[in-house]
Amino acid sequence: MIIGDIVQEKAEPVDGNSQRGIHEDPATLQQQRKRDHLTFAQRYYDHTHQDSVFRDVRPIHTALPESSVAAVDTHADLMQGLQLEWPFYIEAMTGGSPESLRINEQLAALAAKYQLAMASGSQSIAVKHSDNADIRRSFTVIREQNPDGIVFANVGAHTGVGRARMAVEMLQANVLEVHVNAAQEIVMPEGDRGFYWLENIASIVQGVDVPVIVKEVGFGMSRRDIERLSEAGVRLINVGGRGGTNFVLIENARNEDLDFSELETWGQSTPEALLEAQAATQKMTNPPAILATGGVRSPLDVIKAGMLGACAVGVAGYFLNVLLSQGSNALDETVDCWQRTLVRMMTLLGCKSFSELSQCDVVLTGNLLEYAKQRHLR
Ligand SMILES: Cc1cc2nc3c(=O)[nH]c(=O)nc-3n(C[C@H](O)[C@H](O)[C@H](O)COP(=O)(O)O)c2cc1C
Repeated sequence: MIIGDIVQEKAEPVDGNSQRGIHEDPATLQQQRKRDHLTFAQRYYDHTHQDSVFRDVRPIHTALPESSVAAVDTHADLMQGLQLEWPFYIEAMTGGSPESLRINEQLAALAAKYQLAMASGSQSIAVKHSDNADIRRSFTVIREQNPDGIVFANVGAHTGVGRARMAVEMLQANVLEVHVNAAQEIVMPEGDRGFYWLENIASIVQGVDVPVIVKEVGFGMSRRDIERLSEAGVRLINVGGRGGTNFVLIENARNEDLDFSELETWGQSTPEALLEAQAATQKMTNPPAILATGGVRSPLDVIKAGMLGACAVGVAGYFLNVLLSQGSNALDETVDCWQRTLVRMMTLLGCKSFSELSQCDVVLTGNLLEYAKQRHLR
């Protein structure tokens, strides 16, 4: 199958059997899926990151910043009592397989060194197989490496309240991410086929004693989604848009039965989803805080997401690619560079805090402008 300029190969069956993994137990199959996600995220990285969805966001330069590097405060305020040291963080990726233990260990050590928040990959495998010490450790290593940092637990939107609490407790997490991923599940060979999530999300928000972020995994959200989540009591929403890691491509490569490659460009890009969120929240008296993820690969992208209203920004694929292709020292240098560059850029814009970016002037161009016009946004 040809997607854009790449030929998409379907996954090799794990055991050479055309009925992939037919003899294997559920934990082994879930572990293989985790491996597949890492493998295919890497394989398609160049393809999915050849263009930037943030290109159509143009900050307006001010010749008179009236600020200095020393005046910049890098904290990000998500809600009362929840503050991050930095406005970007390591977004949810992995856990559950032996290779993910090492990845989580390296990411969490960097998170601790640079005071970045870090989200765990989905812990559903660990709460389902709670007697499996190896699986559990591939997640708990995140807290071991970063005992005092901000850690986000992660479960799917169908997860019962009891298991959601287990996930939080497992990591002594400060926050719980609940991911919504209908497009991924639909393409995933072994995925869910029904998506009645809102009521359960409301129960999770009520039933856990940490703040909850509801997060898309890369297809964005609409204005209506933001309104419905807000009505369900959600106070933190990550619009997680298209533009980076693409789970249609990843799951399609794992699907030996059906071809969903025409959904490759499905969903709202991260800037589009942020505009949807701005439109939804501007009329609310007590709006939820909006976060962003999807296609962020530079400090300027973080700034642009802030200009479109994000209070914090998650980065997954870009950091993973640096780690897997160049090693942990290169990722260490990258994070150091991002932090210093971000402060300088905020100074250039005359913004003393990340939240001030949302007040800066910005011009939309190209497809994003067209999208905003047709959706009556801004
Ligand atoms: C290998 C990999 C595995 C992922 N697994 C999860 C997951 O378990 N839970 C989740 O909420 N998001 C998961 N994501 C999605 C990311 O958190 C993020 O929302 C998405 O990749 C878009 O951001 P990016 O473009 O910076 O990669 C995963 C991403 C990658 C690259």
